Amino acid sequence: MKLKQLESLLGEIQQFSNPKIQLEQYPTGPHIASRMLYTAENSFGDVSGKVVADLGCGCGTLGAAAAILGAEHVTGIDIDPDSLEIASSNAEYLEFEMDLVQCDVKNLGWRGRVVDTIVMNPPFGTRRKGADMEFLSSALKYASKAVYSLHKTSTRDHIKRAALRDYGAESAEVLCELRYDVPQLYKFHKRKEVDIAVDLWRFVPRSHRENDV
Ligand SMILES: C[S@@+](CC[C@H](N)C(=O)[O-])C[C@H]1O[C@@H](n2cnc3c(N)ncnc32)[C@H](O)[C@@H]1O
Repeated sequence: MKLKQLESLLGEIQQFSNPKIQLEQYPTGPHIASRMLYTAENSFGDVSGKVVADLGCGCGTLGAAAAILGAEHVTGIDIDPDSLEIASSNAEYLEFEMDLVQCDVKNLGWRGRVVDTIVMNPPFGTRRKGADMEFLSSALKYASKAVYSLHKTSTRDHIKRAALRDYGAESAEVLCELRYDVPQLYKFHKRKEVDIAVDLWRFVPRSHRENDV
């Protein structure tokens, strides 16, 4: 599938109708989501035929992109049942399969590295300090091959140190820096859109070796 086709399909996804501030519910737009998954697939072979999980899946955009690009199985996890309802109707509308599980990422309780690849756009941790790190720690526990994640560029050093030193990443690489438009979802945002710099990361968990592929 071409990048533009993927972007256009993702543009049909219905997003949060009533976003919850405390859960930092802002969607990954089709432009960034399509490039994130396209890179994971075309530069690293981490999607097609792989077992993929979308942590904090919200309305399912990243999981949808994985399914469209040929993932063998996709599971979307979110703490919020209302988002999962929307993700479910998106899956039906776009005709892709995704298991949806309501769970806090801290309490997944999976046994070992049960998925190949994790994709996520976690909360930045601005509403609840440390929320971003809880996602990263869980992702690096359960993925065997790679974790793709978006984090504020201002946290780059902290993310790298924690991934390598505390969460068992073998490598932590910023693939690119993006401008991320957080829509004016909340009353405390004065401007229509808040534009922030965000890194797209690829982490490889320590037990994985590139030549195991
Ligand atoms: C920034 S939004 C991203 C949504 C979606 N992945 C996307 O890319 O459009 C973060 C998501 O994480 C979910 N979330 C926040 N805290 C969570 C937690 N502790 N466990 C699971 N999901 C959580 C929110 O409900 C929200 O859907």
